[in-house]
Amino acid sequence: MSLRPATLGAARRAAAKRLAAELGPDATPALDARLLVAAAIGIAPDQLLLVDDRELSEAERRAIDAALDRRLAGEPVARIVGEREFWGLSFRLSEATLVPRPDTETLVEATLAWIDRTHGRDKPLRIVDIGTGSGAILIALLSELPQSIGLGIDLSEEAARTARANAARLGFADRSLFTRGSWAESCGPVDVIVSNPPYIESGVIQTLDREVKDHDPVLALDGGDDGLDAYRAIVADLSRLMRPGGAAFFEIGYDQGRALSLLATRAGFVVAVHTDLAGHDRVVELIRPN
Ligand SMILES: C[S@@+](CC[C@H](N)C(=O)[O-])C[C@H]1O[C@@H](n2cnc3c(N)ncnc32)[C@H](O)[C@@H]1O
Repeated sequence: MSLRPATLGAARRAAAKRLAAELGPDATPALDARLLVAAAIGIAPDQLLLVDDRELSEAERRAIDAALDRRLAGEPVARIVGEREFWGLSFRLSEATLVPRPDTETLVEATLAWIDRTHGRDKPLRIVDIGTGSGAILIALLSELPQSIGLGIDLSEEAARTARANAARLGFADRSLFTRGSWAESCGPVDVIVSNPPYIESGVIQTLDREVKDHDPVLALDGGDDGLDAYRAIVADLSRLMRPGGAAFFEIGYDQGRALSLLATRAGFVVAVHTDLAGHDRVVELIRPN
């Protein structure tokens, strides 16, 4: 008698059970199983329950097994399905892009809070996203700021290409530009600068979870010996990049708030630190006084 699941629902439940047994207590087996099974058979995850009773073809069964094997080998779900939701929008990924993290929504929130206080969301602002990756931060901001335009810069040509494709697919191509460059060397004064640059200490990268160290690009992680290389490079250039009265928002590691605040204060900026949902320092806001 075969124990192979006959229907999509049975396959989803069997996948969740296997993930729970093999991935340990921090895993999210039911969610992972739903996303993996949906992607393997080419259906939207929110439609999956509607076809629970449908019989599986042999090809679908093989595709689900292959996705499950990759997950059990430590590959993140977002890499397997090729996309990740951020700010309610779905971003496609490539090998050159970081998987956008929920914590990074703190950066979007802090930026919007400043815009609400100073300009209002209908003001046409110019925004630059340094180290744009999938374009998640810039595109999330443009989705809230109907009159604004933005430039996303990345040292990786492939990341810039992925971000451009995301902007086009999500309907923001006419208000965004994505280009290859180092930090923001080639761009003029703007109203808002956002950046989630690489900020992990070089020596720590090999100690990170395998989901991160084996699957996120090292260019997206490596912040140099003390993790602060990117902040030093960008802050040194910030007076040129930022209009008087403008602001910059940087994502940081939980223990980098003091170091970046010091760097920014010495460069003449007014600084505030924002915490994420877990209460960790997550974003440093730099205001250039008028
Ligand atoms: C931590 S990832 C952030 C990606 C995306 N903004 C996000 O939040 O999901 C940092 C990004 O900086 C890019 N990067 C690294 N060095 C750079 C440089 N010198 N100039 C521009 N971008 C750089 C990496 O390729 C990567 O896409």
